[in-house]
Amino acid sequence: MKLGILTSGGDCAGLNAVIRAIGLYALDNIKNAELIGIPGGYGGLIAGESFELKRADFEGILDRGGTILGTTRQPFKTITVSVNGNSKLRLMCENYRKMGLDCLFVLGGAGTHRTAALLSSEGCNVIGLPKTIDNDIFGTDVTFGFQTAVEVVTESIDRYRTTAAGHGRTMIVEVMGNKAGWLALHSGIAAGANMILIPEIPFSVDAVCAFIEKSKARAESSGGWERPYNLIVAAEGAILKEESGYKRRERSFVRTERGETTVSAHLAEVITERTGMETRVAVPGYLQRGGTPCAYDRLLSSRLGGYAARLAQEGKFGVTVAVSGSRITFNALAEIAGRYKLVNPRGELVSFAERIGISFGDK
Ligand code: F6P
Repeated sequence: MKLGILTSGGDCAGLNAVIRAIGLYALDNIKNAELIGIPGGYGGLIAGESFELKRADFEGILDRGGTILGTTRQPFKTITVSVNGNSKLRLMCENYRKMGLDCLFVLGGAGTHRTAALLSSEGCNVIGLPKTIDNDIFGTDVTFGFQTAVEVVTESIDRYRTTAAGHGRTMIVEVMGNKAGWLALHSGIAAGANMILIPEIPFSVDAVCAFIEKSKARAESSGGWERPYNLIVAAEGAILKEESGYKRRERSFVRTERGETTVSAHLAEVITERTGMETRVAVPGYLQRGGTPCAYDRLLSSRLGGYAARLAQEGKFGVTVAVSGSRITFNALAEIAGRYKLVNPRGELVSFAERIGISFGDK
């Protein structure tokens, strides 16, 4: 059985651990298994590039960050566009056949899964694996890479706290997450932030400033010597209430018109101006995606990879593996493609956070 593997979209911790688990399961359990690496994500498949993966390639990569296969972004909207009579989709299907693959494992996020569903509908045997620090893939409780990012961000916020406290400042920590606020929500709660701003709950500048004034007054009236400070964790996709009607492109146009770079930079200026409290923005950036996976992600990635290889052995294609409670399971690609798992603004996690004093900047 000839098994292709590719990693696509933004990288995250755990990709190599998944590749290793697929490889080890296949070599030890599938008769005549041949493993083929496709470099650079869908880009490699479009170009028809591949190389053989040997047992030695899986050694020492369980804890390695990044991806030994390399990755690129191939936006979904470009996949079916015809250029000189050829689309990326067509080239990928042709190369899948030319390579003689019996199955293609695709490790990627929501966009990658949309393309995977298309490939599957064109007759390629595809199995998806849910990768992303955004944790926003529909149908799975958790994606690999997410927990490592939560750990990294939580540790960063702990460090931002000490400097914010020392200076009596408001610190806005801007974390990744364009559509979904899972990373901001989990790390914000874990690090004891007093405000979390996420795309699913549009915020108002008035509510944010009122909250800061209140926390300032409370700290001052407590009579202690410590100066009040605030920790705001904002997802990069956080939006103002007045922007919530806009599509993403319109929103960024309006923001550019107003001369704003990011929502955090704008908010920092407004907070300083209205409350008189010094405010700084800190962006952990790509640290959130890099480095070694935490133990939880190593275990999860190994389980997901092994399970995916077993699905291939059983001839179960057109699916993506998923986590449901403590079980590993799968969903049809056609069911989950184009859908996102977002934070429920009225869900248990948000209401619990509110009950322990965390504001979402909406009231
Ligand atoms: O999709 C994962 C993600 O990390 C998002 O949270 C973030 O907005 C985006 O990738 C950044 O992508 P790029 O690597 O293209 O800058």
